[in-house]
Amino acid sequence: MATIKANSYNIYIGDKSFDALNTFLTKNKYSHYYILCDEHTFEFCLPTLLFLAPLLNEAEIIELESGEDKKTLETCLQVWGALTDTGADKKSLIINLGGGVISDLGGFVASTFKRGIDCINIPTTLLSMVDASVGGKTGVDFEGIKNHIGTTAEPKAIFVNPVFLETLSERQIKNGYAEVIKIALIADINFWKELKKLISVSEFSSEKIITKAIALKNSIVKKDLHEKNLRKSLNFGHNIGHALESALIKQNKDILHGEAIAAGMIMEAEIAKPLKRISLKEQKEITDYIRSIYKNIKITKETETQLLQYILHDKKNEGDDLCFALPNGIGAYELYCGVKLDLIKKAISNY
Ligand code: GLY
Repeated sequence: MATIKANSYNIYIGDKSFDALNTFLTKNKYSHYYILCDEHTFEFCLPTLLFLAPLLNEAEIIELESGEDKKTLETCLQVWGALTDTGADKKSLIINLGGGVISDLGGFVASTFKRGIDCINIPTTLLSMVDASVGGKTGVDFEGIKNHIGTTAEPKAIFVNPVFLETLSERQIKNGYAEVIKIALIADINFWKELKKLISVSEFSSEKIITKAIALKNSIVKKDLHEKNLRKSLNFGHNIGHALESALIKQNKDILHGEAIAAGMIMEAEIAKPLKRISLKEQKEITDYIRSIYKNIKITKETETQLLQYILHDKKNEGDDLCFALPNGIGAYELYCGVKLDLIKKAISNY
């Protein structure tokens, strides 16, 4: 088992991480346990958790409907209501068992209930293991804007048990792997070289890869929890990627976050090249690798128009300046403000 030290808590990784969970539960003597899960994790993950952490058999289970469209204040009302009705107090613990929707929403509910109670994350998807559950960003979507209402509140611990990945499809593994590629590209060239040697999708989610990706993200978050500077690097591929995700969701197209981010990284690498942040060779290396894993996304004229609207309104911009987190060579990063609209249009049409 690997243990990574975050700002004020530990991240335990490996199939022995639930030994650490049992120690954590015994040591902390919470008054009530609440397990927050969705329909999927209720069925596929909760039985494993209760078997491996028997103390939690006395927990109240709060089961939410699955889906990003349930990441709302209405769902928070439901959870705050359930906590209140069952007598939750300041010494209660919320256990977020699920992907990013559960840890974002559960973390937000915990950070606001009675001005803040403890929560822990038990991520069950590769995407939440390597990204969403780490770093203390919590929140819900509001009026169609992703993560518009939220807090920065770190969990008391994270327990990453790869056993949960066994129920995930190849598509879901690739969904999380896009964030692994991103962190390598902006933070560690040696990790990038290691990724390029992997041959099968099953290797994308090995304990070694997960541990390295989490360690890199954690080292960035530790230096800049509130995203004043360095943490912005985690947005590489996300200006265009998030816009693409929002545009395709609006059109009811089937798109996963990681698939949109993969396309976003290709287009943002295309922006980084003329700005001399990466060489043509590096751009080709990035693009070829991502294309070898993710299928091409069709960008229609309608999508392109929507994309540009989302990009112009992105909260990552500073005033009128369009800001992009770009690689500065492979394995390093620079925030580049003042990216011209023409360059973005060209990157989209060349995709
Ligand atoms: N997912 C980006 C961040 O945690 O900052």
